[in-house]
Amino acid sequence: MRQIIIGNWKMNGSPALVDEMARAIYACAASLPCDLVLCPPATLIAPLAQALPGIAIGGQDCHEREAGAHTGDIAAGMLRAAGASHVILGHSERRADHGESDAMVRAKIGAARAAGLTPIVCVGEDEAARRAGDAEAVVIRQLTASLPEDFAANGLGMVAYEPIWAIGSGRIPSATEIAAMHGAIRAALRARFGEAGAAIAILYGGSVKPGNAAAVLALPEVGGALVGGASLVPADFLAIAGAATAEALGRTAVAG
Ligand code: PGA
Repeated sequence: MRQIIIGNWKMNGSPALVDEMARAIYACAASLPCDLVLCPPATLIAPLAQALPGIAIGGQDCHEREAGAHTGDIAAGMLRAAGASHVILGHSERRADHGESDAMVRAKIGAARAAGLTPIVCVGEDEAARRAGDAEAVVIRQLTASLPEDFAANGLGMVAYEPIWAIGSGRIPSATEIAAMHGAIRAALRARFGEAGAAIAILYGGSVKPGNAAAVLALPEVGGALVGGASLVPADFLAIAGAATAEALGRTAVAG
C-alpha cells in the first residue's frame, strides 16, 4: 500500500498557484513513491482537476445535506461534480471555527460517502490534553464518536492524526509519541472494524516539513501525511512526497 501525501491549502491559493503546482507535479508525478491528494479551496477544485488529470483532488469540508437553504455551505455532490474524489472532514480548524462536533463530522462522513467521496477524518488532542497525559484517551474518544458504523465498509476512508498544538506551530510530537498514537488508533480501528480496520490509512499531520518528513513517514502505522503550510510551496510539497516510503503498513519497529 503506497503512502498518501495530502496537501491542505486551507484558505490559501490562487489560479497562479494552481499553475505553479500543476507544472511542478506534472514534471515528476510518475516517479513519486506515493499517491498525492491536493485539497485547495472549493473555487480552485475544478481548475486544479483540469490542470492535473490523474492526481486526486479533495475538498476541505462538506455539508451533511445534499442540497437546501444553507448559505455559504457546499454539498459533497458539488465537490464531486467539480472534480473532487476526497474531502477532509473534522479538521480542528473546522471544529474550532465552526463548532463542529463529532456528531456533525459523523453526519458529514455519511454525506461524503453517499456522494462517492473518500473522507479524510481528522482527530487530535490539544496541548492541555497532551500535557495531562490524556492525548490517547481524547483522540480515541473523538475517533469513536466521529466514525460511522459503516466507515470501513467500502475500503475508502482514512484517518488523519493531527495534534492541534502541532498545526502551524513548527513543533511536532516525538517519534515515540507519533508511533504510540498511530498504534492506539490502529488498535481502535481493528477492535471496531476487524480486518477492514487494519487497512484504513492513518496519516500524520501537523508541521510536516521537508526536514522532518522522512523521519515521520518511516514510523510504523504512518500511512502518509496531511500537510498544511508546506503544501503551498511546490518544492517543499514534492520534497515531502519524495520522502514517502514504499510500504506504509506492516512495519512494526520504530525507526530511528
Ligand atoms: P501544517 O497544517 O502542516 O501547516 O501544520 C497541517 C494541517 O492543519 O492539516
